Amino acid sequence: MTIKWYPGHMSKAHEQISELIRKIDVIIEVLDARLPYSSSNHLLEQLRRNKPCIKLLNKNDLADPMVTKSWVQHFQKGSGVRALPMSAKRMAEVKNLVKLCKQLAPNRGKPGLPVRTMVVGIPNVGKSTLINTLAGKSIAKVGDKPAITLRPQQISLGNGILLFDTPGLLWPVMDDQGGAYRLATSGAIGANALDYTNVGIFAAAYMMRRYPELLKERYKLAELPEGPHELIEVIGRCLGCLVAGGVVDVHRAAEAFLRELRAGKVGRISFEEPLTPDDVESELLRFSGIDS
Ligand code: G4P
Repeated sequence: MTIKWYPGHMSKAHEQISELIRKIDVIIEVLDARLPYSSSNHLLEQLRRNKPCIKLLNKNDLADPMVTKSWVQHFQKGSGVRALPMSAKRMAEVKNLVKLCKQLAPNRGKPGLPVRTMVVGIPNVGKSTLINTLAGKSIAKVGDKPAITLRPQQISLGNGILLFDTPGLLWPVMDDQGGAYRLATSGAIGANALDYTNVGIFAAAYMMRRYPELLKERYKLAELPEGPHELIEVIGRCLGCLVAGGVVDVHRAAEAFLRELRAGKVGRISFEEPLTPDDVESELLRFSGIDS
């Protein structure tokens, strides 16, 4: 199966980020805590040129806490890298970010010498939400897909931090099919990129393998059905996604299941763990019945 997703202006956006990185002290890379690997763009490692980097594991309110812990340990091994799980919607948690920025730039953070920071990441990880919470007002459009502008503005947060108010937009690297399906499951890439039914079935296969008890609890199941296709049918019935004759509308059922997962209704779920072996991927795709 080919992944039909061709983002434009990638290299221009990367050039602009590279240029801006020269002018800042600390990079705030926003990742989705549920899939920190697939929601990153590994090009940033080259672009950052040894600048200190905070890997912000955002949407931690939706992620499996134990898995997030192992991601933090994994990232902290990187030179000049610190990892911070949080929810960008929660001001109390965002305050920890300000403290960490100052720790990473000990020669700055003083009057006249603010820590210069910028927020980068792929679409939908919560960059705008974070900027708005940091600024204490709405300056970046949430849910919009901003491209970096030629003359980004800076705002002083009034606590020794200077922030570029336009997020640096990176693109997810879609070189492995499992990563693309995980991004689609999280909602980071849209329905036009991958078939919804396949994404729902992929997510069902993953959940059956990794979080069977959460599925049983949410959908009041004594036992799980045989496979992911059957699970989507059961969930479709449970959520009332039916057509004439009481037949489950599989497409609608897959969509409804994904909506539930993304909203955290099934529980706190992580879609990848550090050092996931490749064979787990192919096994999952086989189990899902999706052609690779
Ligand atoms: P972006 O700039 O990186 O593209 O992301 P943006 O801030 O626009 O956020 C994308 C979606 O993720 C938004 O939901 C936003 O509310 C949600 N979000 C951001 N941070 C968090 C978080 O820490 N936890 C949770 N649970 N959600 C978060 P949306 O449905 O597109 O918009 P809306 O429902 O907020 O209007």
